[in-house]
Amino acid sequence: MTQKMWTAVDRYFDDVLIPSDPILDAALQAAHDAGLPAINVTANQGKLLHVLARSIGARSILEIGTLGGYSTIWLARALPQDGSLISLEAEPKHAEVARANIARAGLAASVEVRVGLALDTLPKLAEEGHAPFDLIFIDADKQNIVGYFEWAIRLSRPGSLIFVDNVVRNGAVVDADSTDSSVQGVRQFVAAMATETRVTAMALQTVGSKGYDGFVLAVVNR
Ligand code: SAH
Ligand code: DHB
Ligand code: MG
Repeated sequence: MTQKMWTAVDRYFDDVLIPSDPILDAALQAAHDAGLPAINVTANQGKLLHVLARSIGARSILEIGTLGGYSTIWLARALPQDGSLISLEAEPKHAEVARANIARAGLAASVEVRVGLALDTLPKLAEEGHAPFDLIFIDADKQNIVGYFEWAIRLSRPGSLIFVDNVVRNGAVVDADSTDSSVQGVRQFVAAMATETRVTAMALQTVGSKGYDGFVLAVVNR
């Protein structure tokens, strides 16, 4: 199986299942025009996040790693009228692009993008009493996943979902000697999960237009 085929199959299903969407297209175009890296979730992955949020009736969502707000829009569209989403982003320029994309999507009232290193802004969310979040999407730097996951649990309730993106990294995750700090960040996270009793977690490998990767999906235990 080749990247060419994974991309073709993604396109085949996208054509049928994901109607063309001027707002999402414009969000990607604006991110591209602003020079942001094209590391957003695929349409299909965005829709998976949307389906998960809808299926648990999520009213409050936390995202760590906004980029241009593409995944943010998929998630925020799953919220009810009075729902809310907070997205944490380190780069002011990314946040600016995201805010414009979110406003264009008509979601400005329910979405807040906060600038700062997530390990600095997460404690403030706790202090301000925003928790618990029903769904937490972890998609920032991979070096700090252990810390983000710990905060995600603290800011959750029993039944909350925690989704951690990019845990396979083209298969590099199995290389214990990897010199890639992202790979080591994922491995530290996986090691921490071995003794983590507060969640029930699984990891799934994925292929598609974005290559070979995967995610961890966890539900917070009662
Ligand atoms: N969720 C987005 C993609 C996020 S890419 C989507 O699918 O559309 C990862 C983002 O995390 C980048 O914008 C990067 O600037 C941000 N980031 C990296 N380190 C961070 C940190 N320490 N705190 C907050 N955001 C961070
Ligand atoms: C990277 C980050 C992501 O969130 C992603 O989905 C793919 C790649 C990266 O930092 O390389
Ligand atoms: Mg990602």
